[in-house]
Amino acid sequence: MNNPHLLVVAGSSRVGSLNLKLARFAASRAQALGAQVSTLDLRELALPLYDADLESGSGVPPQIDRLQQALLGCDGVLLVSPEYNGFPAPLVINAFDWLSRVRATPTRGAGLDATAGKPVALLAASPGAGGGLRGMNYLRQYLQMAFAMIVAPKQFALGRAADAFDAAGNLRDPASAQAVDGVVASLRRLAIALKAAPD
Ligand SMILES: Cc1cc2nc3c(=O)[nH]c(=O)nc-3n(C[C@H](O)[C@H](O)[C@H](O)COP(=O)(O)O)c2cc1C
Repeated sequence: MNNPHLLVVAGSSRVGSLNLKLARFAASRAQALGAQVSTLDLRELALPLYDADLESGSGVPPQIDRLQQALLGCDGVLLVSPEYNGFPAPLVINAFDWLSRVRATPTRGAGLDATAGKPVALLAASPGAGGGLRGMNYLRQYLQMAFAMIVAPKQFALGRAADAFDAAGNLRDPASAQAVDGVVASLRRLAIALKAAPD
């Protein structure tokens, strides 16, 4: 299983998003390593802000199924999220909070079953110098503690990202490209190893 299936998710889908650019760059590098790559646009899910009254009235929004199925169908996740005031993007947290509310039924597993034991690696981009590093560390804790995901030790925050990409969407700085490659390669290795591991 040298070609694991990696799911690439960006925490911002805005036009010109730096994180989306970084996600696309990382996806191309993962494909170059032989990984199968799929993407999921969290904004397309159009999830309402989590609200317990909404949940008790109409349940978990059915479109959360797309996130659940995408997670179930992949061997590892690459999450590329901006930080806002040092915290991970609400687009990511809201989607995962809703996922955590999916209860198991006779025909469908719980939301948390789709994340437990699944490897995930983190990237971030920001026009600022820190690149989103502070948010990544909260995201690491959130995904590990609440979702039982196996977060790759290697991560990379791309600072000054507004000037980092060329017109083709490649990173100009070879050291940054190498750092992305390192994160992608470690996720790929983790995905291969965990898939081969006995239950
Ligand atoms: C409310 C708000 C808070 C922000 N806080 C941070 C921050 O803590 N650290 C940082 O590096 N950038 C911060 N930014 C700037 C974002 O990194 C920047 O808008 C970035 O381009 C968002 O990601 P995107 O380009 O993928 O949409 C903040 C932006 C907003 C709107």
